[in-house]
Amino acid sequence: MAKFLLALFVLLLLAGAAVIANRDDRHTYIVHVSPSLRPSSFPTPLHWYSSTLRSLCRHLRQPPGRILYTYDRVADGFAAQLTGAQAAALRRVPHVLTVVHDRPRALHITHTPSFLHLSPFAGIWPLSEFASSVVIAVLDTGIFPYSRSFFDPNISSPPSTFSSFCGFLNFSAAAAGPCNNKLVGAKVFYKGYEAARGLPIDETLESKSPLDTEGHGSHTASTAAGAAVSDASFFGYAKGEARGIATNARIAAYKICWAPGCYDSDILAAMDAAVADGANVISLSVGASYAQAYYRDSIAIGAFGAARHGVVVSCSAGNSGPDPYTAVNVAPWIITVGASTIDREFPADVVLGDGRLYSGVSLYSGNDKVTAGEVLPLVYSGDCGSRLCISDLLDSSKVSGKIVLCDRGGNARVEKGSAVKLAGGAGMILANSDDFGDELIADSHLIPATMVGASAGNEIRNYIHSSPSPTAAIFFRGTVIGAGKNPAPKVASFSSRGPNYRTPEILKPDVIAPGVNILAAWSGAASPTDLDIDPRRVEYNIISGTSMSCPHISGVAALLRGAHPDWSPAAIKSAIVTTAYNEDNSGEIIKDLATGAASTPFVRGAGHVDPNKALDPGLIYDAGIDDYIAFLCAIGYIPEQISVFTRDPTAADCSSTTLATPGELNYPSFSVVFSSHSGVVAHKRTVKNVGSSSSATYKVKISSPPEVKVTVAPTELVFDSVNQSLSYEITFASSSFSGSERVGSHQFGWISWSDGVHEVRSPIAVTWSYGLVSSM
Ligand SMILES: *[C@@H]1O[C@H](CO)[C@@H](O)[C@H](O)[C@H]1NC(C)=O
Ligand SMILES: *[C@@H]1O[C@H](CO)[C@@H](O)[C@H](O)[C@H]1NC(C)=O
Ligand SMILES: *[C@@H]1O[C@H](CO)[C@@H](O)[C@H](O)[C@H]1NC(C)=O
Repeated sequence: MAKFLLALFVLLLLAGAAVIANRDDRHTYIVHVSPSLRPSSFPTPLHWYSSTLRSLCRHLRQPPGRILYTYDRVADGFAAQLTGAQAAALRRVPHVLTVVHDRPRALHITHTPSFLHLSPFAGIWPLSEFASSVVIAVLDTGIFPYSRSFFDPNISSPPSTFSSFCGFLNFSAAAAGPCNNKLVGAKVFYKGYEAARGLPIDETLESKSPLDTEGHGSHTASTAAGAAVSDASFFGYAKGEARGIATNARIAAYKICWAPGCYDSDILAAMDAAVADGANVISLSVGASYAQAYYRDSIAIGAFGAARHGVVVSCSAGNSGPDPYTAVNVAPWIITVGASTIDREFPADVVLGDGRLYSGVSLYSGNDKVTAGEVLPLVYSGDCGSRLCISDLLDSSKVSGKIVLCDRGGNARVEKGSAVKLAGGAGMILANSDDFGDELIADSHLIPATMVGASAGNEIRNYIHSSPSPTAAIFFRGTVIGAGKNPAPKVASFSSRGPNYRTPEILKPDVIAPGVNILAAWSGAASPTDLDIDPRRVEYNIISGTSMSCPHISGVAALLRGAHPDWSPAAIKSAIVTTAYNEDNSGEIIKDLATGAASTPFVRGAGHVDPNKALDPGLIYDAGIDDYIAFLCAIGYIPEQISVFTRDPTAADCSSTTLATPGELNYPSFSVVFSSHSGVVAHKRTVKNVGSSSSATYKVKISSPPEVKVTVAPTELVFDSVNQSLSYEITFASSSFSGSERVGSHQFGWISWSDGVHEVRSPIAVTWSYGLVSSM
């Protein structure tokens, strides 16, 4: 489904681009300004921005551009429709820090609470009061307010610090009105989208209100903080109680995503509004297709401004795995979340005419004869007109009444089943491509269908081509929970990976969380497949993606915010990172579904989130805005680039900051880059005692990468008060540093500090590299 969403965006994006190209040369630009330079003669920033635009346009003899948004919380400035000449002229205005072209970004449960060991009787749930005092802003496709997940008659009034606004149009049905004590806000942001489209939103296709007509936003919001509802299921699959991770946290929905994607100007406006409204956590399952330079990335800029206000920002890493350097939203002040499996499966097995059995997965829900395991003729799509099973290309005379083996790739997985159905086929076996190995994603196909791994696909294809009359049957086996023969978690192949494309010295992703086959609320205004030909409507849907893992971490961050109101966003991230676990439920290192082998910290980050442990991490690696500014200096940003974050050109003075290298940032993990100049890297780190006992002695344990000597001094940290901070120095020495043969290779290890009660663990990744130390 995640792949499907991405594919959907690509297709629609092309259509949208045609519309945009037909218009004049005005585009939306986001203009960052320095507020301290506003002359007192302008009563408001808007007066100032309008005047700036008017005088500039008079000078250029062009009509002034329209201002779409002004920003004043996570950023200062405005978004406006400008010609290229106007944008260029604005860049030369002294109080303008930068001018960025607006671009669209892509969107990237019953059982997950128990998989995360959350219990109503002990641990982080009761100790955080289920995050009752916390508001999570979900920036997504809106919300379906009629869902049971967004109404809870039992919770108290929301925190008075949050200013509610409920922007639904023509609302009538929900018992308690569209907004209530659970759904405390709903806003919509479309000016950037409409400006790019050049036309008003087509309200026959999309609602110009926070109403979710897609499904994705309702899914992510209910994963983060949906109310506890009984009897949730998707056509009987995954049946049980559904509830969000931060069950009593309040949801504020900010609709920023539209058919072609989610525009930067709208995202920044929503982040600004979320912080102004008083949200505590921002959940953003959206990203660019590759990691943008921080000073041009609205999500990075907005998240920096949010961190300044103490708001945690949790983002998906993207669905562009398994290639390296694919993770997005990689700024160090963001929590970057990869996706992993849980111990629940939806098996649907294939039995070939020769008796061989292959296990697959499916959420097919119909009653066709194939579901009874009927033996039918089997053909390969590549012999019937379309290897990828693209609509209208399959030859009906060859597939009619048969089971068709289709290859993954190209179009959406559910579209392949739909194509086979339209051509008269009886069933489908979807074979993974080699890239995705044995990563199986259960889809709610419109035809009896199952998905098998790449090697099974190859064997089935060979069988079809070697047997005179190939046949197959598919057996659907429902929902199976438990370790069984298939350990969990595993990292999804699609989950975007490190190393960090922008700053290899900062390990990304930070952590993994459930993101495969997740059951959560859906919109009644969309089908579960989002295909127009699919007439079904569901309350709950099962989909996959880092979009699904991000709100799990947003929920955990909300629980931590509820339990520790005084922790900074960096402290909350540190607690999540240093307590993550690295072994699956069979005791082995968490596997990577792309390779079948053990994953590395570039794939799983610090490991899988463990919410109860994160509640009491013992020590935290804290950092604040000044540290992040020093980080921007250390990656070589010039004052103009840094001032986009500080919003004050005079504050971007790197001569007084202290980080020698970006890896020196007080981050809870290590990504060390050996350059041609140096096979030795040393960092200072500072940890703060947040354990309940004032005196605690932590001893270091080190697991060095094979060809690196890691030393730590001191090896013991003796705390005698709560909130006390102590520092240590860690040195990484490449033991066989000899030049070019190592370039591009990686090794891994970890260190941990333990007082016998807490285990504060940081992963280590090392890279031998030339010229990669810091790329802007
Ligand atoms: C509200 O409380 C009632 C009575 O305790 C309970 O039956 C119901 O499930 C609760 N509803 C929710 C959404 O938690
Ligand atoms: C909402 O109501 C107004 C006024 O009754 C109407 O003009 C508009 O078409 C309605 N919009 C939708 C999406 O139903
Ligand atoms: C630790 O610091 C926080 C503020 O950062 C404060 O609220 C808390 O009371 C302090 N704890 C102790 C035991 O001093």
